[in-house]
This record gives sequence, structure tokens and C-alpha cells, in this order.
Amino acid sequence: MNVNALRSKLDEYPRLSLAQYPTPLQFLPRLSGELDRPIYLKRDDEIGPALGGNKTRKLEYLMADAQQRRARKIVTFGGLQSNHARLTAAVAQQCHLEPHLFYFERRPAQLTGNLLINQLLGAQMHFIPFGGGGASMTLEQTIRLVRLVAWLRVGAHYFIPVGGHTWRGCLGYLRAAIELDEQTRAAGIEHAWLIVAAGSGGTLAGLLAGLTLLNSPLRLLGIDVGRLWQGFPDSIARLASEVCSRLGALHVFTSDQVPLIEGTYVGERYAVLTQDCIEAVRRLARSEGILLDPVYTGKAFAGLLDLAQRGQLGSREPIIFLHTGGVPALFAYDR
Ligand SMILES: Cc1ncc(COP(=O)(O)O)c(C=O)c1O
Repeated sequence: MNVNALRSKLDEYPRLSLAQYPTPLQFLPRLSGELDRPIYLKRDDEIGPALGGNKTRKLEYLMADAQQRRARKIVTFGGLQSNHARLTAAVAQQCHLEPHLFYFERRPAQLTGNLLINQLLGAQMHFIPFGGGGASMTLEQTIRLVRLVAWLRVGAHYFIPVGGHTWRGCLGYLRAAIELDEQTRAAGIEHAWLIVAAGSGGTLAGLLAGLTLLNSPLRLLGIDVGRLWQGFPDSIARLASEVCSRLGALHVFTSDQVPLIEGTYVGERYAVLTQDCIEAVRRLARSEGILLDPVYTGKAFAGLLDLAQRGQLGSREPIIFLHTGGVPALFAYDR
């Protein structure tokens, strides 16, 4: 599909304009020297509001839809240090909607990191300790269950699944795929790897759909940071296929076409630090003065370093790491 056709299809969906695009594609001179190949950061961490991150791109589409449907309350859910929940609260307040955030864990004695920011933003936080945990359900089953709980608790609302995991949310990352494809072509960056953290997988799904429809030479790779869901590649494949069909393109992805490394860099579990994650965060901080986060980008960047060192990403090709934000979570950890 040519880029103009894709852009005009995308323009059929309502979207709020919440940030300045394109975000920078920043060359990292010291790390490139150390790894002996060009390394870039795509700075989606610089997207606002309220300390920002990748979820704003999804929320531009989701909140526009909520407004069209005349919603008054917005509900979403996530892990305790969910950046998505924090950003949903911030954007909801901008739109004069009432944010309700659900966490299926005990309320911590002290609110830190993203939770503290949610409180500053005036979000209503609902803590419901469910027990369970582990990847015992699919993402879709989890979403159905939480939707029901939310109805019982807050009544009528506009529901946004964990991570903004819907075809409409993914349009934000389809748009980002166009942006990245244009940026890399203009900068003469060829055959680059594009590495991204995968939590709910929507960022990966949107990029996968966009880069495929554009026939982009960028080579996409998602790194799972949570081992959170049964059948995760299936969910991502379904979502990417749905995004394509909503844009009038019949492209069906199968789970084995989803470029995802599952499990390897998660460590014990989601949001629990690994030594490699700590070292990756320190390495970028000390070489470039740029902060990653301990839950998503730190683990994904640790994966990038390991894969590059083991020769799994070729040898000379540039690597672009999508910095998806999450820095507030640094303040919820003591290392
Ligand atoms: C900082 C950060 N990076 C990456 C991700 C992963 O994005 P996605 O849920 O679209 O896979 C998230 C959210 O889950 C996030 O908050």
C-alpha cells in the first residue's frame, strides 16, 4: 500500500492531537562506538503529557472515540507501575473525563512512581487483590473479565483494555510506523533493526501492521517483558490483522509471523528486576545520560545488548531502539 493511501485511510478515524511529531530519532555516539555499529533511539519517551511515553499515541485515537461516544468515565487497568494507566488518567483529565484505574493487587502502603502521579492527577484508583497471577489466561479472557468487574464497580464508562490493546489504539503505532519509515529513509538508514518492548503487544502489533503494509525495509523485533499471557503471539497476530482490515487491507498474520522473543529477558516475572536490566539502565545512563525504565525498556534494552553481543542482529546493521518511556517507575525501585 502506498503511504498516501495509508495516510488517507488512517485520517478516516477521529484523533486528538496530543503531542508534537515526529519524535526525534537520536544517534547515540558513545554506545555506537562501544558496539561498533550505529545505534539510535526513537524518543517516544519525549511524548507528553505527565511524563509521557508510548501510550499517548494510542490514546489519541481512543480518547477521540470516547469523546464521540459522549463518555463521562474512562476505565482502564494494568500492573501497579502501569504507565498506560498514568497516561490514561492524564489524558482523561485533559478531556474532562473521569479516570478510573483498576489494579488487581493489594493497595501498597505507600504510593510511589506512577501511582503517586495518578494521585496527583486525581484519578480514582481501585485496588482489587485477585490472587492468581502468572500467565493463566489469554489477554482477551483477562480483558473480558475486567470489563465485567468495571461495570459492577463504576457503571457506564468507556473501557480501554490494558495497554490500550485494541485495533483503534494500535492505529497510533501504525502512524508511528509511517513516521519511522520516512525518518529512516530521509536519514539514509538502511536495513536497520527496530527493537521494542512488548507488554500488551499493541505497540508491536501496530508497527507490524504498518511496516508490512508499507513494505518497509525495517526489521522489527519485540522483546516480551512480562510473560503475562497465554497465547501472546496469537493475540498480537489477531490484532495486527484487524488493524490491516480496518484500513481496508486484507493481510492476515499468523502467530509465527510475529517477531517476538518471549520469556528470555523477563527474569522471574513482570516488574521484578533482573541484574541484566539494572546493568542496561546504568549503561545507557552512563554512556549517553539517557534514562530507561526498570519494567519495560530496561529489560528490552538488556535483550538488545545481549542479542547484539551474540551476533543475533547481524554485525553492521544499524539498530533503532524504540524508547517507549516509563521513567516514573524508576522512583518505585531502590536500585
Ligand atoms: C514504558 C513502556 N514501554 C513499553 C510498553 C509496552 O507497550 P505495549 O503494551 O503496547 O506492548 C509499555 C506498556 O505496556 C510501557 O509502559
